[in-house]
Amino acid sequence: MHPMLNIAVRAARSAGNVIARAFEQLDKVEVESKGTNDLVTNIDKQAEQVIIDTIRKAYPNHSIVGEEHGILEGEDTDYQWVIDPLDGTTNFVKGIPHFAVSIALKVKGKLDQAVIFDPIRGELFTASRGKGAQLNGFRIRVSNAKELSGTVLATGFPFKKKQHTDAYLNMFKAMFTKTADMRRAGSAALDLAYVAAGRVDGFFEIGLKPWDTAAGELLVVEAGGLVSDFAGGNNHAKSGNIVAGSTKVLREILKDIRPFLGDSLNK
Ligand code: IPD
Ligand code: CA
Ligand code: CA
Ligand code: CA
Repeated sequence: MHPMLNIAVRAARSAGNVIARAFEQLDKVEVESKGTNDLVTNIDKQAEQVIIDTIRKAYPNHSIVGEEHGILEGEDTDYQWVIDPLDGTTNFVKGIPHFAVSIALKVKGKLDQAVIFDPIRGELFTASRGKGAQLNGFRIRVSNAKELSGTVLATGFPFKKKQHTDAYLNMFKAMFTKTADMRRAGSAALDLAYVAAGRVDGFFEIGLKPWDTAAGELLVVEAGGLVSDFAGGNNHAKSGNIVAGSTKVLREILKDIRPFLGDSLNK
């Protein structure tokens, strides 16, 4: 295993332990609001601190961007870690056992290493640039669906940005009528990991943040799939509007989204 992936795995497992232990005593968790329908807990912050400490100990000069601590510039800006300590905070707070730790490393702006860890199921998704993607050490690949008929797509609702409801529902309708079914499980990181593992055939969501998608993007690509913005380009890290799937599924989704791209929904 690449030494930097090894550190990412160690950090994700340590954070996962913090989260899993706290999940057993949810009444002790302190919940705050960061904005409309946007929760954060002391456990999100603790888990992020554990990840930062693990990375800093191994690589004191690297830069780190975390959802809760923001940007921590290191002397070496070529190496940037992008972390979401707890993806699926709403599930966590509600006692729904579906959330994950997501850690990615970018080298000179390119995704290089990725880990998504589900501490409840003990599932560890890993990828290294050019080396494929694995689940608990076994190679995974995206589904081989060729059309939307028969597919199950994962998605996320724009619950923090309800002004996008109509645009989102139009897109949803266009796709729902063609697919077998849809899943809204509540963790974008796991949605992308599940695309990589072929458990769902594709994924789309509006308004995500870089830490929601960085590790998942490398997993999907290394599992043989594609990730893009709503116009098929690579603006998704900026816009947060993201589509993922196999080449064929992605092409079909983009075709269905196209009519809704406009003022309220950019690429
Ligand atoms: C959220 C989850 C959710 C998605 C939201 C994200 P968080 O991340 O990934 O599935 O729909 O847009 O913000 O805040 O729980 O880390
Ligand atoms: Ca959050
Ligand atoms: Ca997140
Ligand atoms: Ca989070």
